[in-house]
Amino acid sequence: MFVTFEGCEGVGKSTQLKLLKEYLIATSQPALFIREPGSTPISEQIREVILDPKNKEMTPETEALLYAASRAQLVREVILPAIMRGELVICDRFIDSSIAYQGYARGLGVDEVKKINELALCSLEPDLTVFIDLSPREAFRNGHLEDRLEQESDEFFEKVYAGYIAQSKASNGRFVHIKPDFDKNVTSNMIINAMRARGIIK
Ligand code: TMP
Repeated sequence: MFVTFEGCEGVGKSTQLKLLKEYLIATSQPALFIREPGSTPISEQIREVILDPKNKEMTPETEALLYAASRAQLVREVILPAIMRGELVICDRFIDSSIAYQGYARGLGVDEVKKINELALCSLEPDLTVFIDLSPREAFRNGHLEDRLEQESDEFFEKVYAGYIAQSKASNGRFVHIKPDFDKNVTSNMIINAMRARGIIK
């Protein structure tokens, strides 16, 4: 099984992944946690190039291709072999990030981004996408503006959010929307219950 986590910046995605990991360890359910861009030596190097604030000249096309290159490596080196071994793979961001950020917010368009990613994906699609559904206005922006993407405008992140909502509508029920509670443990239970209901975890 292949599960992805998606959402705008500052919605508590990392915290929720940490809580899910703790739950799976406590209940002896092995899972492989990875992130995009990254999680292979080559993909981590590509991540550094993409997110380096010095790379201000990077065009939207280059950005989309670099995310796809990082993905192509991760899919072949890690995700497909793990799925073949019958493991549960949980990935922090995947193709829907490219559609929301590069397709909608950067304005490359959904079709162009899908085309760029066709070779990267090897036909792989998530079985479930956990979307932490908080708009940028509601999200907790903690003032960290460290990487190149985090330095984008409020308008950019509004477009990212709108992109996710459109992508969810088009995804035939693959997305589960989690509206975060103020209590992170309540949110974590919502996620665990959604995964249980689909037979992905116990
Ligand atoms: P992170 O902060 O969740 O680790 O993700 C890195 C940044 O990269 C985040 O701002 C979202 C962005 N991103 C894209 O724009 N397109 C993509 O395909 C992926 C995977 C991430």
